[in-house]
Amino acid sequence: IKKYGYQPCVNIGTAGHVDHGKTTLIQALTGSWTSVHSQELKRGITIRVGYSDAAFYKCKSCEEPLGYSTTPKCNNCGKESELSRVVSFVDSPGHESLMANMLSGSALMDGALLLVAANEKVPKPQTKEHLLALQTLGIQQIVVVQNKVDLLPYKEVLANYQDITKFVKGTFAAKSPIIPISAQSGLNIDALIGSIESTIKTPERDEKKDTVMHVLRSFDVNKPGIKLKDIKGGVIGGSLTQGVFKIGDEIEIKPGIINEKKKSYEPLLTEITSLGTAAGIVESVKPGGLVAIGTKLDPSMTRSDSFIGSVIGKPDTLPDNSTELKLEVNLFDVAVGITEDTKVQPIQSGELLRLNIGTAPILGKVTKIKSKNVEIELRRPACIFEGGNVAISRRIDERWRLIGAGIIG
Ligand code: GTP
Ligand code: MG
Ligand code: MG
Repeated sequence: IKKYGYQPCVNIGTAGHVDHGKTTLIQALTGSWTSVHSQELKRGITIRVGYSDAAFYKCKSCEEPLGYSTTPKCNNCGKESELSRVVSFVDSPGHESLMANMLSGSALMDGALLLVAANEKVPKPQTKEHLLALQTLGIQQIVVVQNKVDLLPYKEVLANYQDITKFVKGTFAAKSPIIPISAQSGLNIDALIGSIESTIKTPERDEKKDTVMHVLRSFDVNKPGIKLKDIKGGVIGGSLTQGVFKIGDEIEIKPGIINEKKKSYEPLLTEITSLGTAAGIVESVKPGGLVAIGTKLDPSMTRSDSFIGSVIGKPDTLPDNSTELKLEVNLFDVAVGITEDTKVQPIQSGELLRLNIGTAPILGKVTKIKSKNVEIELRRPACIFEGGNVAISRRIDERWRLIGAGIIG
């Protein structure tokens, strides 16, 4: 484990078309390769949302952006640098079939890096779709990254840069900086860090509010064959959006687990036995970065991300479980995501939609429509926060496509 002494204060996501170099860039910035599951290694793509963190340093003596680095020693002059921020990265999969995972990760992003490979035509389908996903979820602080500039002669890099500029102009990222880099050879990473530091601000968080944590992962950390007395309870990973947790806190997890007899979900109550962040093992956690909570739950319950999409708070502070979702909907004109854009038809009563609510992808059936107000019956309950953003997808030609955004009413 890397230890910085501080918990990260901001979550920075990656976005962009498959193979444009998101995970390679995260490795350049953090030193770790986040796609480590066997299927990811076999297929050479990111499948689950990856996670890693880094510390950014700035040299006092060097001019911007030369003095930015990920080590306390300045790469430019060799002198000691100052810590700028400890940040965490949420690495999205780019493959078109993995939008649901991308959207779950986006629920935790404060800002994002949109990667565009210099050697491909602009824009590729997921370049557009991921940018729309960020827009849908209200992620406005975006740095556009032109990657793989090492692959082309200077003139072609410049022409591609113009294409990216033109594309970005017509989107909600119109004001974003565009930074040319090579993630693989580490070229211009200092300028990128400088741009991240000036573009993606640390959000203001309220640690006094009721704690809310959105779950992105859960694990069984025990090795097979472990002695019963040594077994560690289930571990749950995610990010706090407000409030704090400390060791010993009673927590409630919603929607919880299904009671097979009653055929309904019941919230789970347990206790925090340990806490981990990029700062190492800690006594308390606050918003920023992914945190891992050790619990007294049976570890078989938390195996292989079974709790993704759950929400954790202190007992009796979270909204009730509900299967009724009321949205004020804004549909896109066109659905992007494959080579040809498709016009988005109005939502129909009775149709099945996929809603990404926080980190939870949930299917739901439309029960009522009155202009922009849509009521949906969810297939399973969720912990629903009024005012939250929801990404709405519809099945078009055998694949889920993002068609619009909703605000929970
Ligand atoms: P998905 O997560 O599957 O969407 O892919 P990704 O965007 O994470 O791309 P990844 O980092 O896996 O890189 C894809 C391929 O591009 C790999 O073979 C990388 O080595 C290569 N690559 C990434 N960045 C660069 C770069 O700056 N220059 C060159 N030449 N190759 C790069
Ligand atoms: Mg990747
Ligand atoms: Mg790849």
